[in-house]
Amino acid sequence: MSLTLAIIKPDAVGSGKAGKVLAHLEGAGFTVHAMRLARLNKAQAGAFYAVHEGRPFYEELVEFMMSGPVIPMVLEADNAVAKLRETIGATDPAEAAEGTVRKLYAESKGRNAIHASDSDENAALEIDFFFSNYDRLGL
Ligand code: CMP
Repeated sequence: MSLTLAIIKPDAVGSGKAGKVLAHLEGAGFTVHAMRLARLNKAQAGAFYAVHEGRPFYEELVEFMMSGPVIPMVLEADNAVAKLRETIGATDPAEAAEGTVRKLYAESKGRNAIHASDSDENAALEIDFFFSNYDRLGL
């Protein structure tokens, strides 16, 4: 078993789809280890996506991620990072496979419902960004 970080993004939370996204993740076999509701400020959203700084979509991404509440969560499964990326589908919902979270619930490449860590190393960093060890009860 391993861990990864998902964030239900402001578009999905704001349109009342957070419960459906969570149910989809649970149905796919993930166990929720920690979860919270957060409202990111500019510094926090910018720091979380620092790896994308300088790219043409960076400012839009930061503004979007601070535009409303987000729901970060720590998920556990066998091979969690790869499994979650497969479960949520491609970044652009137009390219996402049928039945994936983004195909079902995302609006566009920018407003794409959910974030998922892209490696075990980044999962560890991203989990620490949102959750202290104390919050990760059961680990
Ligand atoms: P996410 O998985 O959260 O990681 C980085 C995010 O940048 C990505 O989802 C998209 O929401 C966003 N992103 C990537 N490419 C673009 C793009 N060309 N235009 C707007 N947003 C993008």
